Parts: sequence; C-alpha cells; structure tokens
Amino acid sequence: MSSKNVTIIFGGKSLACRPDTSVAIALWENGIRHLSHSHKYGKPRGLSCARGHCTSCLMRVDGVPNVRTCHTPVHEGMIVDVQDAGAFYGPPMQKVLSIGGHLFPVGFYYKWFTKPEVLSRFFLNLIRPMTGVGRLPDASVEISPESMPSTNLGNLGNLIIGAGPSGLTAALNLASTGQSPITIIDDHKYPGGQRAAALDTLAQSKTTKIERFDLLASAHKRLNALRESLKEHSDIQFHPERRALAGYRPNGVVLGDENNLFTGTFDNLIWAAGALDTLGLFPGNDTPGVFGPRAIYRLLERDGLKVEGQRVLVIGGGLDLWLSAALLAARGAAISLVVTEPGDNSEVSAAVDLGWQLTTGLQLSEIQEQSRDSVEATFVPRASTPGPAHAHLRLKADFAVICGRGKPAYDVPYQLGAELSAQPDLGGYAPVGAQDGVFTGQLPDGPGFQALGEAAGALPGYPSSSQEKKVSS
Ligand code: FES
Repeated sequence: MSSKNVTIIFGGKSLACRPDTSVAIALWENGIRHLSHSHKYGKPRGLSCARGHCTSCLMRVDGVPNVRTCHTPVHEGMIVDVQDAGAFYGPPMQKVLSIGGHLFPVGFYYKWFTKPEVLSRFFLNLIRPMTGVGRLPDASVEISPESMPSTNLGNLGNLIIGAGPSGLTAALNLASTGQSPITIIDDHKYPGGQRAAALDTLAQSKTTKIERFDLLASAHKRLNALRESLKEHSDIQFHPERRALAGYRPNGVVLGDENNLFTGTFDNLIWAAGALDTLGLFPGNDTPGVFGPRAIYRLLERDGLKVEGQRVLVIGGGLDLWLSAALLAARGAAISLVVTEPGDNSEVSAAVDLGWQLTTGLQLSEIQEQSRDSVEATFVPRASTPGPAHAHLRLKADFAVICGRGKPAYDVPYQLGAELSAQPDLGGYAPVGAQDGVFTGQLPDGPGFQALGEAAGALPGYPSSSQEKKVSS
C-alpha cells in the first residue's frame, strides 16, 4: 500500500487525497459532499449506499460520464467533475418544477400522452432535456468499453448468495447432511457478512469494549462459531468479493468481481443477500451526510473513512444502532445517540458509562443540511411519550446515521421469477409466505429456492434457534 498523497483535479482545483481510497471518500475528506443532483428538482446528492446500488455518487471522471465514484479508486492527475444539473433547460427549469411539483406526479413521464405515437414522441422529446445528467462538455472524450472476460463455472449445485450468518448457517446445515456441491459467494473479502468487520474491530477496541454491549458481544460470539465451523468444511467453496449481478430463468446466474464476469447454473438457490439501507420517510432523508448503518460499516472498515474528532448523530434502534455507534466511537468520533425505540436497557447503560450524549423518547422529524459539511436534525416526542406536544429538540452533527429495518434485497430472485409481494411489515418486497426470516419453496421453473434472514424480512441480527431449525429442515 502506497503512503504518498495523490492529487486529483476537482472543478479545476487540485486536491490532495489519501492514496488507495475512492474518489467519493477523497472528496468527502476534502469537504466536498455534493457529488450529483436529483434529476427532477436538481437537489444535491452525496455519498449514500457506498455499495454501487444507487446513483447518488455518479460523476464524470477523466471525461467518462456516470462513473460510480464510491467504487472508483483515485489516481494521480485524475480529473473529476459534477455532471450538469437540469440538462438542457438547466436549473431555472428545475426551480419551476420544484414550485409546481404537485402538477408532475411521480412517473408522469411514462403515463401521460402515451398515444398516439407521434404525440408520445413529441412529449418525450420535450421533457427529456428537463432532467438527466446533461451534455458532455467536450466531444473529444472517447469511451471505449472493454468487454470483461467471462468464465463459465458450470453447475454450482447449492448456490448460496451471501456469507452472513444466515448464509453460513445454511451452508453448514447442507454440509452436515452430505449435500454437495455447496458454493457461497459474497461481495466481502471474508465470510461473515456486512457486520463482520465492524464486530471484529470492536472486539479489538480497547476504548469501546464489545463486552459492554450484550447484543454485540453475543452477535460476535455466534459469528465466530460459524466462521470456525466453516474452516472445518473444505467441501464448502467460498468465493469472496463477487456479487450476484443477474438471474436468468430457469436456473442461470451471472456473477461478477471488479474485472471479470462469471456465469453458472444451480440446482438450489439460497438467497441470503441481506438487506439494503433505508432511511425512512421524513423531510431531508436524501440530505448529503445522512447514511444508513450498512454504508457506515463499508465506509469505515473497507474504505478507511476518517471520523476522528467528528460529531456523529446516531438515530434509531436495534443491533445496528449499537454497532454503528460503538464502531464510530472506537474510530474516535464523538457520539450523540437518539434511541427511538424502547428496550436495550443494558446497551443504554453502557452508552451512559461511555459518556455518549444520549436522548430517548423522541422521534426524528426532519434533517437539514446546516452547511456544506454538517447537518441538523429535529426531533419531536414519540406519540406514546408524555410531555408537551410542542417540545422538540435540535441536534447538529458532522453527519448522521439512521438505523432501522432494512429493505430485503430481492433483485436476482425477482429476475428468476420468484413470487414476491410488497410486505411493509417485512421492510419491502419479500417472498410470499416468508415467516420468521425463512422462506422455503421452489422457483417457478423447478429449482429449489430459499430466502433467509434479512433477505426474507428478518430484523438485523443473528439466526434464532427456531430459524436455524427451519433452515435445516
Ligand atoms: S452507488 Fe455510490 S453511493 Fe450508492
């Protein structure tokens, strides 16, 4: 790993940044949080999911448009620019849209004037230039996409997507009944899932000891037991740093890493891909500087984001609230904690002992960007909390993390024809019939299909014994 700073050019200015980091982190560490704009209203967008799942970090890099800067490493002399907001008509049109936004409901562009064709074409030509990411500033940029090499992996047998606790439990259960082959893929370097590196860091921390938090200590113990068992099974093939990119009926998948594509088939798909961050419905949920916990684990553990001395507002409840707060504290951040869900009493005591600023009995009402490098959150009393209805609290911080139930990942099962439905109490689309974090059935074309853990709507956590029993049956 190189230690010499590299210089990138952003908006014509030179910025020194750490080597071996991503463009988005380099800009963040130089105080630049606005990476793109929303298409319709031109609102600022910043680093968000940090896993290639959104469009918030799309920028022009070395002339190439639409580059995901959260996944693009910096290099000496790199030229980075924000793409145009408002495309052809520009920001004035976006102001008009903001004022008259109610006249243009979500999805109006594909519902209005669809017939006759000539009118539809005229309408689309009229509205397309209102949004989008604009025109390239020069015509000299040559984009020559290189085709990625592709390897056929053949039949992968029992294919498990996701090496978190649910995926590992499923793999070990299959191995114990002599089923093979068993293949696990995961986009992390090591088995254990999205929270593994964060838990390992805390287990090493001398300042924020994991034993102080019952929830975290038991999660780490369970994870270690699974990882130890995995080592004893050479019959389970683990493929790190690969993602499931697509599914093709009846039983095909496309996997990918940074530089390669892989194709394969399966007899039995076990979907344990976890959940995506969701921040909840409140004004300002798209403010740059507001993250979900999964993004924070990646930014701190994978990308080495520096947070020492920063004030971070951590809001919500459950395992992710305590894990993200403890991880940030272990990395030197000052924590302001707003616990919006009752319970977790031993964790609350630990937070008090550690001197974190802690508030309970409130719910988040709004977040605003305070300046280009800080946010302010407004809270009101929870409906069930006694007290004057007008009382509210404002807290400022360098950035905020909002921890709640995630949205089950479902893209590949959907492409394979799995029956999914919107189930708000499970966080989003999940297999019809999923219960207690487990769905067992078949894909419509015959192959076996299981969805497990958060991908089946479970809360963040580790498989309960009843869940483990279901997985093995
Ligand atoms: S894809 Fe980069 S932040 Fe979401």
